[in-house]
Amino acid sequence: MKIGIDKIGFYSPHVYVDMEKLAEARGVEPAKFTIGIGQSQMAIAPITQDSVTLAANAALQIIDEEDREKIDFVIFCSESGIDHSKSGGVYVHQLLGLNPHARAVELKQACYAATAGIQMAKGHIALNPESKVLVLGTDIARYGLNTPGESTQGAGAVAMIISANPHVMELEQHNVYLTNDIMDFWRPIYSDKAFVDGKFSNEQYILFFNKVWEVYKEKSGLELKDMEAICYHLPYTKMGLKALRTVLDEASEEVQERLLKNYQTSTIYNRNVGNIYTGSLYLSLLSLLENADLEDGSRIGMFSYGSGAVGEFFTGVLQLNYRDYLIKESHQQLFNKREEVTVEKYEEIFEDVLPADGSDIELDISKDPATICLSGVVDNKRQYVNKNR
Ligand code: HMG
Repeated sequence: MKIGIDKIGFYSPHVYVDMEKLAEARGVEPAKFTIGIGQSQMAIAPITQDSVTLAANAALQIIDEEDREKIDFVIFCSESGIDHSKSGGVYVHQLLGLNPHARAVELKQACYAATAGIQMAKGHIALNPESKVLVLGTDIARYGLNTPGESTQGAGAVAMIISANPHVMELEQHNVYLTNDIMDFWRPIYSDKAFVDGKFSNEQYILFFNKVWEVYKEKSGLELKDMEAICYHLPYTKMGLKALRTVLDEASEEVQERLLKNYQTSTIYNRNVGNIYTGSLYLSLLSLLENADLEDGSRIGMFSYGSGAVGEFFTGVLQLNYRDYLIKESHQQLFNKREEVTVEKYEEIFEDVLPADGSDIELDISKDPATICLSGVVDNKRQYVNKNR
């Protein structure tokens, strides 16, 4: 039985800052951000969006009535969780009006968790072929104003339905994974911003890629020439390129050209959104599928990396007429409708956070065009609104 991605949707907040303008404000050459880091625009989450609303808005793009009935497992993958105890998946389950006879949980391992989520979903479908699983990768990347990580922030979510006989991509066997306890990036419970050893994190990302790729080749018997493209976890778009370059000489010139061309296509959306942590690899896949003209049956390599760290390499095969099941137009509209804000406004939005002392707050959701918004906090409980209900 084939199991894989049946539907895939994306959501990012309605405001962004231009990276050239951010570079100027920080006294940095704009080319450092646009070429050295490889980012053009950075999505910013207003106070009315959190990991729950981003995930729910992404899922709204793809689910229909049949999905609402058949989804019996919601896997909320995030490192921007809103509660130490209650899963973000329970809120999303309610906001979407899903079948009550469903499981809802939250998974965490930095940017890797959504990969664990889809593999867990695959196991669930193998045992329950009639059901569907909703996997959500949702995050807000925050390093702080004027920090080296600032240019690699972002916000957004990817939602995927995993099912039997998927319409978009079958997940293949031969996954190779690797765990090693390192401190390249982490966020202690008391901090709303990440701590990072930037250079070390870059090195570890590449090391993990090289290690899983070597074992993957042995295990699967496949090589670079068997991949139409490789999608990477993209903390910034230059990062995957650095990793790809370390193995390119294993392939002929023709294959190298193809992989480099498809790599560029797989970064279009990420370049204009920034790091969305758990969703980044899947945003890159979406960017590739919606902007390249890949043939049905093409094999796509996928490298997932979550600091701390866990990495995985796996592959998927595009299904017959997969293009008919993508929602490129609605993603284009999402990008077209976004508003640019000044660097000053971005800083104001960045610093506008929920009270940390348990006091109530009422938020103005009239300026946030998202269907699902956070409207406040009352008695330590976040209040969510689905404007369509
Ligand atoms: P930095 O120190 O500001 O930048 O930090 P840099 O000095 O290393 O420069 C960056 C690049 O710009 C270099 O290119 C420069 O040469 C180039 P490279 O040598 O790396 O190819 N450059 C220019 N290019 C063109 N014109 C110019 C120019 N000037 C310089 N004028 C760093 C960069 C990424 C380290 C920082 O932003 C950071 O710490 N970011 C956060 C950590 C991160 O993203 N790490 C990535 C791997 S870890 C990961 O992916 C996991 C993660 O997503 C978290 C999770 O799992 O949850 C982060």
